[in-house]
Amino acid sequence: MEIIKTVHHMQQTSDAIRQGGESLALVPTMGFFHEGHLTLMRAAKDHCDRLVVSLFVNPTQFGPNEDFEAYPRDTQGDLKKAEDAGADMVFMPSAGEMYPESAQTSVVVKDLPNHLCGLSRSGHFDGVTTVVAKLFHIVKPHVAVFGQKDYQQLSVISRMVMDLDMDIQIMGVPTVREADGLAMSSRNSYLSPEERKSALSLKKSLDLAQRLFHEGEKKAHIVKDFVRSYILEHPHTEIDYISLCDSVTLEDVNTLTDGTLMALAVRVGKTRLIDNGRLKK
Ligand code: PAF
Repeated sequence: MEIIKTVHHMQQTSDAIRQGGESLALVPTMGFFHEGHLTLMRAAKDHCDRLVVSLFVNPTQFGPNEDFEAYPRDTQGDLKKAEDAGADMVFMPSAGEMYPESAQTSVVVKDLPNHLCGLSRSGHFDGVTTVVAKLFHIVKPHVAVFGQKDYQQLSVISRMVMDLDMDIQIMGVPTVREADGLAMSSRNSYLSPEERKSALSLKKSLDLAQRLFHEGEKKAHIVKDFVRSYILEHPHTEIDYISLCDSVTLEDVNTLTDGTLMALAVRVGKTRLIDNGRLKK
């Protein structure tokens, strides 16, 4: 597995792969790999001849009071795991390589970021779309793979690709969960054993909403009230948002239908966790 640190070297390598007639997949990551990341890598490798994993903790998507400095890092462990999952190259630039001081351009999707996580993480999605657009121009993949756990991120990136006519296929991979249902996340490593138990309330509240819908409840505010009370029964929880929304526009809905998205963000202690699911009849 090759480790590539500069934009120029990555672009030259990708050009050579494309000219040789091979297809190229990209899995963009911020590292600290768990089974969720490795599932994305294996799915990407199944679809393409060569796999690039990018490993870059992107400073521009963290707010001033967020966990950029504390974000868990394990470069040596990550390189081993990426190689075992089939990566051919890891693109691992420095912050200076990605953001020269002279840079003046960012990529902004207009409406989709103004919902869900975007409401409490101002500027977050501008940071994500800008870095992902740069990664697309640097790695030049045919396919890029993202997790559905970050549903809004996947929607915003898909919109960017469509609006800017980027010739890249975006693949979304279902959320990978621990045996007890907790969605895998690098941030789970922040949880104390007691908080870890409370964190289960996210997935269980998705199951609760699904059960209510299945039993015939169609009113979003009723399901939301049940879910809110259920989550708050768990110690150390504070709700950022619970949204029942249209899965394409992310606009809140009053009436639940087959396919309505339920998305939530909950602080458990100091850790902000997200999860989502689509309601099924
Ligand atoms: O999902 C992530 O890990 C990041 O938001 C991404 C897509 C790698 C961009 O920094």
